[in-house]
Amino acid sequence: MFKSFKLIYLALTCIGSVSVILAKNCDDCILITSCPGAVHLAVHEKNAKTEDLIKQSLCSLEKVNGLPKVCCSEFPQAPVELDHHPNLELLPKDCGEIEGSRIVGGEVAKLYEFPWMVLISYDTRIGREFLCGGSLISPLYVLTAAHCVHGRKIAGVRIGDYDWRSKIDCEKDTNLCESYYQDIGVSEALPHPAYQGPPVVRNDIALLRLRKPVNLTVKNAGVICLPVTKELRERRLDAEQVTVAGWGITEHNTPSSVLLKVILPVHSGEMCRAYYGRNSKEDTTNNILCAGVLGKDSCKGDSGGPLMLEGNYDNEFKFIQHGIVSYGPSQCGSHFPGVYTNVSSFMKWILDTIKP
Ligand SMILES: *[C@@H]1O[C@H](CO)[C@@H](O)[C@H](O)[C@H]1NC(C)=O
Ligand SMILES: *[C@@H]1O[C@H](CO)[C@@H](O)[C@H](O)[C@H]1NC(C)=O
Repeated sequence: MFKSFKLIYLALTCIGSVSVILAKNCDDCILITSCPGAVHLAVHEKNAKTEDLIKQSLCSLEKVNGLPKVCCSEFPQAPVELDHHPNLELLPKDCGEIEGSRIVGGEVAKLYEFPWMVLISYDTRIGREFLCGGSLISPLYVLTAAHCVHGRKIAGVRIGDYDWRSKIDCEKDTNLCESYYQDIGVSEALPHPAYQGPPVVRNDIALLRLRKPVNLTVKNAGVICLPVTKELRERRLDAEQVTVAGWGITEHNTPSSVLLKVILPVHSGEMCRAYYGRNSKEDTTNNILCAGVLGKDSCKGDSGGPLMLEGNYDNEFKFIQHGIVSYGPSQCGSHFPGVYTNVSSFMKWILDTIKP
């Protein structure tokens, strides 16, 4: 707000000298800096037209710190900027906690390394099955892929599991064990309205609203950070080493019962589009990310699970989710990179869709 204050002050210096003889009467006569529509115009459309509008809307002869009062309703409403989206407050700030220093090495995740990992269970012919993953982004919402939701019967989600085959989960090489997890029902499954399934996959993103909030006070439940600022959304990811975690759950197989992780390089948007957009059969927008190398792709991640990168979030070093496992090469470890939904390009949809 301070920046806008200075800008608007500058924008107004030219009319500061104009003596105000006419002051309007209106019900919403407020200080110009308190009027979002006026601030937006003064900052983004600093021209004669805006100056005229400000002059015409002046409603008091008195000034506060040299700034005038205006009839706020005379200004068009300011567009909601993503960085000021009202629903940002629904995303907890204490997210993406990195346990101790970054845990490097190893293919098996540590017990509390990724507490936002979610297993999604389905009612199938052979009973309850985990067929997709997801990530917890708030106490009430799980982020996943639309193909995990579309035309499927979701039974619920599980938060806090580590080895889903055993009752008491113990970390190898340490004495750390955990038996607590949370199974919660889903009240709304919200695939992106423009989701398009194979052969050309588009907008592969979905939200699940839970029946009750996840208890986040336990050690094995937490939320992951999202790219909530313009800076984070526009961060260049190519050549970065990102982390994908999961049990390896895809439509075709579930290779592990213990949570695994893999570190992968991200490819540039151009290379990704060259791989997958050659016949313009695939999504060629910047709505996807590609990551992976020969023999090491998102086979270890789950469909719908997160692709994460550590970064500066509110002046702390946190895990931020940049991708959602969308689809990969049909053969694990083939030379094609895996494809991930670019979370940044869907932040507006996420914020518009979540509710208190
Ligand atoms: C959350 O879990 C803690 C620890 O098990 C427990 O003490 C607390 O009552 C739980 N809170 C809710 C709302 O269930
Ligand atoms: C992902 O989306 C963001 C925000 O729209 C964009 O800045 C970025 O370039 C995209 N990434 C790729 C690889 O296209």
